[in-house]
Amino acid sequence: MKCKKCGQVAVINMRHHRLALCQECYLEWFPQQVQRAIQKYKMFGPQDKILVAVSGGKDSLSLWDILLDLGYHADGLYINLGIGNGDYSRASLQKVVKFAARREGARFQVVDVHETYGQSVPELVRTRQRGRRVCSLCGLVKRHVMNRVAYEGGYAAIATGHNLDDEAATLVSNTLQWETGYLARQAPVLPSTHPKLARKVKPFCRLYERETAAYALVRGIDYIYTECPYAVGAKTIFYKSLLNQLENRSPGAKMQFYLQFLKAKEEGRFMPVEGEVTLNECQGCGQPTTAPGLCAFCRLWVSKQ
Ligand code: AMP
Ligand code: FES
Ligand code: ZN
Repeated sequence: MKCKKCGQVAVINMRHHRLALCQECYLEWFPQQVQRAIQKYKMFGPQDKILVAVSGGKDSLSLWDILLDLGYHADGLYINLGIGNGDYSRASLQKVVKFAARREGARFQVVDVHETYGQSVPELVRTRQRGRRVCSLCGLVKRHVMNRVAYEGGYAAIATGHNLDDEAATLVSNTLQWETGYLARQAPVLPSTHPKLARKVKPFCRLYERETAAYALVRGIDYIYTECPYAVGAKTIFYKSLLNQLENRSPGAKMQFYLQFLKAKEEGRFMPVEGEVTLNECQGCGQPTTAPGLCAFCRLWVSKQ
């Protein structure tokens, strides 16, 4: 197959775009798509300081790589959650360290959950939060740490590597449960609704996972291939495989599903429920919370089972 732009041998064929590209043209095309998404959804501007949440995976490392290439001030944040007896998290951190060492201007910080708060995420589940799923706790910890670092460092936005497959799988999940509140909030940009709550952006939300993997591969980015051990058997993985079956039969189905949802939202079909949500500052950490006293993160450390 030949590159549609220059006629050289194509390295990727994107059936949903009816577009095959060679390595060189792909390396031009992919970052352009990212820049377009940043502008279309008004994610941030050229002067903004961005905090990129990097997990060591293909998406977030590629995102960091592109934001730096596009000239943004993009600093990395790796959160060491202590997963897999610490081994999985250490191996992921190594990928971030390796990437940053090779990439000029790639500054990053690490927050070690065990060192900072006294227990890693799996330890927290074992000692205080028995019966709770590691993934849900992990999400809560990540959100708290990202927001704290963004606020303290004066970042305009937190950028995550969520891709189209992630977003479409979340959409399937939210739809199957008719989670109207989540549906109203699922978007490429989560605006800041409080001075201490950072804006969240997903510049890869319109790019297929296959495309982000191809970008990492072509750019020679070394990333952690294995899934988090706690993700095994997770529903999202099942939803992704269902969506892939659909995509195989009708190329572009995944993208349509997500983009039509965004369009419907733009047309006001998923309005948030009336009534202001009041945000208080947590009595423990000062972060915004809907709870009256301690936020959900601070409650983790006091509750026992
Ligand atoms: P996941 O929830 O693992 O699908 O990851 C979604 C996004 O969250 C990634 O693309 C990263 O941007 C961010 N992320 C996940 N894990 C970490 C981590 N340990 N440290 C920093 N950012 C992370
Ligand atoms: Fe959080 Fe797997 S990355 S539980
Ligand atoms: Zn708190």
